[in-house]
Order: sequence, then structure tokens, then C-alpha cells
Amino acid sequence: MNIRTVGILGAGTMGAGIAQNVIEHGLSAVVMDADPAQLQRAVATIERMLARGVEKGRIDAAGAAAIRARLATTAELARIAANDLVIEAVFEDFAVKRVLYQRLAPLLAAGTLVATNTSALSVDELAEFVPDPARFLGLHYFSPAAVNRLVEVVRGARTAPAAYDRALAFVGATGKQALACRDGLGFAVNRFFCPYTNEATRLHDEGHDPAAIDQVARASFAAPLGPFAVMNLTKPRIALHAQRSLARLGAFYAPSRSLERVGEAGGSWTLADPPPAPDPAARALIADRLRAATFLPVLQLVGEGIAEAADVDLGARVALRWDDPPVAQMDRLGRDAVAGMLRPLLKRYEIESPAALIRVGTLGLRSGAAANS
Ligand SMILES: NC(=O)c1ccc[n+]([C@@H]2O[C@H](COP(=O)([O-])OP(=O)(O)OC[C@H]3O[C@@H](n4cnc5c(N)ncnc54)[C@H](O)[C@@H]3O)[C@@H](O)[C@H]2O)c1
Repeated sequence: MNIRTVGILGAGTMGAGIAQNVIEHGLSAVVMDADPAQLQRAVATIERMLARGVEKGRIDAAGAAAIRARLATTAELARIAANDLVIEAVFEDFAVKRVLYQRLAPLLAAGTLVATNTSALSVDELAEFVPDPARFLGLHYFSPAAVNRLVEVVRGARTAPAAYDRALAFVGATGKQALACRDGLGFAVNRFFCPYTNEATRLHDEGHDPAAIDQVARASFAAPLGPFAVMNLTKPRIALHAQRSLARLGAFYAPSRSLERVGEAGGSWTLADPPPAPDPAARALIADRLRAATFLPVLQLVGEGIAEAADVDLGARVALRWDDPPVAQMDRLGRDAVAGMLRPLLKRYEIESPAALIRVGTLGLRSGAAANS
């Protein structure tokens, strides 16, 4: 059964963006928030976006009105539960989500699919609190959710294949690119993007200039923005929070000193314009360190079966707009060069060499037996 109606829990940054995406693609959304002011703000934001679309000639006034008519708000959890799909995008707090699922459980219609937009909590642990874990999964959107085309479709250990396929079809119908992955800290994209960002801040701890690091990072991955500029948009506080969640994976994933400092203070990074030019040796060091800190978690997550290597590159291209994504780079560099780049990291953090290293060279080729089939 196709998904036509979506109930969205939480009308914050992500809930509002997801609602906008849903109604812009011909489906209906009903949104609920514990804070009525947030609900009003979300509606006002969506209306402003639609008005801007009319001003810019992307849609006509009648089209905008039709989109707006597909958006409703509610204060009744039962109205959320009555939809084909419920997407939960409330605070990133396990207890808050758990209590909400427990309240939602008795109200859910038999065929309703339930998805969490969590960034860092375990889909499998949250599944304990929904009435039917077979119909529960992760739909991890990227900010801004109305615009960024990637959605990680996270299969929990108990998600039924039919439910997963329905979710994939929904993601496609809303104009998004699905990245199929399994449950695991950081899923696919944040598992390597956060360590790459964190390594940039470690280089800063060692005296390198953030704007210079950004410049090298852009060149290293053919990226539109460097890690510090991205953090200034999404907030270092959020980057710190994400990094702290990943720290359960070991010391390599622990936040750097400067990320702790700036994130805790709710600050942002000062970026010199124009950036100071690093000397060639510093440039090479920064590039190698950023690459190694990205390659290592990519090889780990591929080895753990979280996602296929080719899909990691898809995520990097679509969500981050990296035109030279990590798996393609590793295949081009070859196994020996990648092993050499990883060696200092493996030694410093006492990490075993990732098993997937053996596949470097043909890593990006699809195996045929997809990791998520
Ligand atoms: N911000 C991002 O870049 C981003 C990206 C991907 C995923 N996420 C995830 O999406 C979720 C939401 O993040 P956000 O950035 O939109 O947060 P936010 O703080 O902007 O919004 C959360 C909203 O949930 C509401 N809320 C809290 N408890 C509620 C409850 N019991 N019932 C109904 N509403 C409730 C709050 O009032 C708030 O409006 C989190 O799990 C987060 O990890 C965030």
C-alpha cells in the first residue's frame, strides 16, 4: 500500500523541513508538537518558503495554495497515529522518544509504519517501545530536510522486508535519494563525516588555522565547504553532540579539545578571509590526516555491514556534495597507499587494521549481494 498521509511528531528544524518536503510531493502531512509556538513557527516557515517559491516563479499561486492545503496541525496524538506513516522528529533524547512511543502505541492503526529521524540513538533500542518492531525503522533526513536529497533508510534487526520496501518507495516518491543501511552508531554518513570534522579540529588543536584546513579539505574531497564552515552553519554544539555519541566506538572517535571548548560554549569558528596559505608540507599533512580519518571509519562501517561501499560514496555525493568521495579515492590510491595513510591512526588509537582494507582497489564495485538485501 502506497503511503499517502504522514503524521509528523515534532515541528522543529527537521519536522518542519520533512513536512514541507512531503506536501510538496503531493502527499498530506499532519504535524504535532508539544510546544504550540513551535508548531506555529513551522507553519509560518513553510508558508514563507512557498511564498518565496511563487516570487521566484518556481510555482504559481494556485500551486502554492494546493501545497499549503495538504498541511495540517494537530494537538491530538490520535490524529498522528491514524496516518500511513508516522515520522518522529522530537528532541534527541531517548527518554523523551520512549515516553512518546509508549503513548502512541495504543493509538496506532494496524498498517501504520513508524520511523524515527534520530541521528545517534539506536533504532533497535527504540524499537523496544513500539507495538510492532516489524513496522519500525529509521528515516534519517539531512538538514535542511526540505532541500537535502539524501535520506538514510535504516533497517533495524526486526524491520520486516515489506515495511522496509514501503519506506524506500515513500522516500523515492518524495523526490529523495535513499541510502540503504543498517542500524549502527552514526549510520553511514555521520560515521565518517563526524570523524573527518573532528580530525579537522584536532589539527586546529595542533596549531593549524581553521580557514587553511577548510581550504585543504575542500580540495581533498572536491567539497563545496570545509568542515569549519559546515559547522558554522549547523552549529559546533551539534557537531560536539554527534561526536560524543560516536565516542562509544573508542578513543579515535572522542571529541577534540577545541570541539569540546567551542561546542560547550555554544560558539562558532573564526575563519580568516582570505585564509592563510599553508606551506606545502603542512598542506600535505592536513590532506593526509583528513583522508585517513575519513577512510578508517568508512572501512570499518563497510566491514560491519552497515552499508555497501558504493552507497557510502552515494551518501557523500548527495548529502555532502563531495565530488571526490572516499571510496572512489581509496580505490584510486590503492591498498598500499591507504594502508600507509591509516598506519599512524591505527597505532595512535590502538585499533586493528579494518578487514575491508583488503578490498581496496575494487571496494566501490557493487558485490551483487547487496548488504541490505
Ligand atoms: N538538526 C539536524 O541537523 C538533524 C539532522 C538529522 C536528524 N536530526 C534528528 O531529528 C530529531 C529532531 O531534531 P531537530 O533538530 O528538529 O530538533 P528541534 O529541537 O529543532 O525540534 C524538536 C521538536 O520536538 C518537540 N518535542 C519535544 N518533545 C516532544 C513530544 N514529546 N511530543 C511532541 N513534540 C515534542 C520540541 O518542542 C521541538 O519543537 C532529533 O532526533 C535529531 O537528532 C536532526
